[in-house]
Amino acid sequence: MNDIAVGPLDLAARVDEALAVQAVAFGLTPEEVGVRRHIVLRHLQCPGARSLGATTPEGRLVGFVYGMPNDRTHWWSTVVEPYLRANGNDAWLDDSFVITELHVHPAFQNRRIGRTLITDITATASEPRSILSAIDKESPARALYRKLGYRDLARNVVFPSAARPYAVMGAPLPLQT
Ligand SMILES: CC(C)(COP(=O)(O)OP(=O)(O)OC[C@H]1O[C@@H](n2cnc3c(N)ncnc32)[C@H](O)[C@@H]1OP(=O)(O)O)[C@@H](O)C(=O)NCCC(=O)NCCS
Repeated sequence: MNDIAVGPLDLAARVDEALAVQAVAFGLTPEEVGVRRHIVLRHLQCPGARSLGATTPEGRLVGFVYGMPNDRTHWWSTVVEPYLRANGNDAWLDDSFVITELHVHPAFQNRRIGRTLITDITATASEPRSILSAIDKESPARALYRKLGYRDLARNVVFPSAARPYAVMGAPLPLQT
C-alpha cells in the first residue's frame, strides 16, 4: 500500500472516476459505463449504502468498494435467490452485507489495496455475514475472496444482462485476516 490511503469515498461525487477505474480493471465499454453510472447512483440511495476509496497522495482514485445491507427485493437478490435456495443457502440473503463492486486499477494491483478495501468496509457492517458475486472462473478476485473466508454458495449463476456466469460467495464477518 505504502503511499495509498484508504478511507470514506463520496462515490456519488466521484462516480466518473470510479467507473474509469472499473472500466480498465474489469473491462467496461463506454456504453456499459453509462448504464453502470445510473445503477451506481441509484444504489447509493439505498439505506446503508457505503463506499470506500483508495487514493494516491495527489488525490487520484485508484480503487474503490461499495456495498449495502442486502434487500431481497433488489434485482441482484431476486436473480441469485433461486440458485441459493437450490443449494439450501438462501438464508445468506438475510442480515447480510452485499459487496456490490470492488475494483483496483491494474497499475496498483497486488499491493493489498483490494484486501484492505473489502476488509475495512465489512469491518463496520452490523450484519454477521457478507455476500457477493464474482465471475465464475479462477481469478485474482476469487482467490482474494477465498482467503478472506468467502465460500461458494452457488455456481453458474446467470444474470440476464451478463455474458458470463457468476459464482455467489458468502463469508462470516469479520473477514479472516
Ligand atoms: C480483485 C482485485 C480488486 C484485487 O485487488 P488487489 O489490490 O490487486 O488485491 P490485493 O493486492 O489486496 O490481493 C489480495 C490477495 O489476492 C491474491 N491475489 C491478488 N492478485 C492475484 C493473482 N493475480 N493471482 C492469484 N491471487 C492473487 C493475493 O494472493 C493476495 O493475497 P495476499 O494479500 O495474502 O498476498 C483486483 O484484482 C481487481 O480489481 N480485479 C479486476 C476487477 C475485478 O475482478 N473485481 C472484482 C469483481 S467481483
